[in-house]
Amino acid sequence: MERTFIAIKPDGVQRGLAGEIIRRFETKGFTLVGLKFLQPSRELAEQHYAVHKERPFFAGLVDFITSGPVVAMVWEGDGVIASARKLIGATNPLNAEPGTIRGDLGANIGRNIIHGSDAPETAEYEIGLWFKPEELVNWTPTI
Ligand code: CMP
Repeated sequence: MERTFIAIKPDGVQRGLAGEIIRRFETKGFTLVGLKFLQPSRELAEQHYAVHKERPFFAGLVDFITSGPVVAMVWEGDGVIASARKLIGATNPLNAEPGTIRGDLGANIGRNIIHGSDAPETAEYEIGLWFKPEELVNWTPTI
């Protein structure tokens, strides 16, 4: 079964959107298999966003993601990586469709509330970075 890494960023946490965002993933029918609340270290943030290291916004992005607590999650389900990206919406909330998390709740590319893995390799890398294997719960809903 496919898994993806989802993080509610400091702006989402501070605006009290964590419950709303988790509800959208639950009601879609995905299964939560990992959840933690932490303020990321610079090392973790730099590793997480390593692919953007040369971009002009990298330093600001790392400053922001380490500025407060984050809700880090792993969600499981058929096609969850692509489906979660649809639920989340375009990177820039100004371009995100109404009905998506960023389209409904965000208004700024630097404060876009949530992160979701963009491909299977990224999901594997990000899950391994944020979670130890024993922190993930292997379970199957029975209803
Ligand atoms: P995320 O999905 O976490 O992946 C990379 C992040 O970089 C992205 O969301 C944005 O928060 C951020 N980002 C991308 N482009 C820009 C930009 N032009 N200016 C500031 N931040 C950006």
